[in-house]
Amino acid sequence: MNILILGSGGREHSLAWAIKQNPKCDLLICAPGNAGMAEIADCCALDINDGEAVAAFCAENAVDFVVVGPEAPLAAGVADVLLGMGVLTFGPSQAAAELEASKAFTKEICDACDAPTAAYARFTAPEPAKDYIRAQGAPIVVKADGLAAGKGVIVAMSEAEALAAIDDMFDGAFGDAGAEVVIEEFMEGEEASFFILTDGTSVLPMGTAQDHKRAYDGDEGPNTGGMGAYSPAPALNDVVMQKALDEIVQPTVDELAKRGTPYQGVLYAGLMIKDGQPRLVEYNVRFGDPECQVLMMRLGAQALDVMLACAKGELDQTQLNWADDHALTVVLAARGYPGAYEKGTNIKGLKGIAGTTDLQVFHAGTASDDGKTLATGGRVLNVTARGATLQEARDRAYGAIEQIDWPGGFHRKDIGWRAL
Ligand code: AMP
Ligand code: GLY
Repeated sequence: MNILILGSGGREHSLAWAIKQNPKCDLLICAPGNAGMAEIADCCALDINDGEAVAAFCAENAVDFVVVGPEAPLAAGVADVLLGMGVLTFGPSQAAAELEASKAFTKEICDACDAPTAAYARFTAPEPAKDYIRAQGAPIVVKADGLAAGKGVIVAMSEAEALAAIDDMFDGAFGDAGAEVVIEEFMEGEEASFFILTDGTSVLPMGTAQDHKRAYDGDEGPNTGGMGAYSPAPALNDVVMQKALDEIVQPTVDELAKRGTPYQGVLYAGLMIKDGQPRLVEYNVRFGDPECQVLMMRLGAQALDVMLACAKGELDQTQLNWADDHALTVVLAARGYPGAYEKGTNIKGLKGIAGTTDLQVFHAGTASDDGKTLATGGRVLNVTARGATLQEARDRAYGAIEQIDWPGGFHRKDIGWRAL
């Protein structure tokens, strides 16, 4: 079959790599893609947030299956347009994608299905929000309601910080995303990401991972999109995972179905785990980046089979074959990220790294120019390895990084520290 992947990050490169290995995949197209994806697929310029344009592209190119990588096209309703045109699509409808696009919506769903999460209140004006913060005290968490590229959350350790966050949000620091604010109880515990496939009725756990959100070693520095990840996440053992499925995920899926807006695709549940009890931090309606890279490294070709089953509503007849393995990925980012950084710096040494089923360099912000690989984004490469143990995967990934010659980049040296 002909398959189109929407997106251009490390997440989408790893999806492309896994899908490409499956014999069901005849032609693989990525839009817009990056230099790494161009080595294994056809890359096309396309406005991926424009459903009509994507649908027209699918008709012209006889695309049988579309995999939507990032949240923006989902929130824009691209999956709805494709399904309306009869194109098999992996990813939720606009209505179901509200789970990521609106934090207030997620809270409402949790209330309706009794899923454990932080206590909260919603505000559309600064003064009542500030009164609430003064009454609750710190630490406390202030969130812009809408999509803010992962930056709309302030975990305030002091009351003053929380009050300042309210001013920033209502002054428009996050644009329309901050027109409504959710204020939440601060939850303590260990964070882990749980990825679940659902066709709207059945759920199939796809894997667990732990991200490293801060830019620098020791979890210091500013928040980023994620500087590295590993899978599985030890905090999400079988007992906690089953609790998360029974108390949070299945009730959410059932609630959305009941409302006539069933969820189809991957559900990314960010969980806080304390004393064996998971509580929901947030939902995302897509794979995590870089968490996807470690999941794909472990799942390989079967990733396509389960995504297809999900889109076709056949998940109850599908299983995943888990190997008893571990994967770890280290993000190489441009110096300065997540702040201002230089674009167009040259990356050398990539050709010396032989890609195998145990080692892959997934590209994010890269472009090729006259045989050179140039850095074009903040997060640029994901050096991803698999091993019988986490230590083995880690040694393999860091060993490969030593072969990369990129003075314009930096990476964390401690990915996996919590589990090791
Ligand atoms: P979110 O975008 O909702 O995932 O928030 C970003 C990060 O803020 C999360 O990954 C957590 O580390 C932290 N966070 C969000 N909500 C809470 C909460 N209620 N309690 C503690 N930490 C939180
Ligand atoms: N790595 C965090 C995310 O994808 O949201």
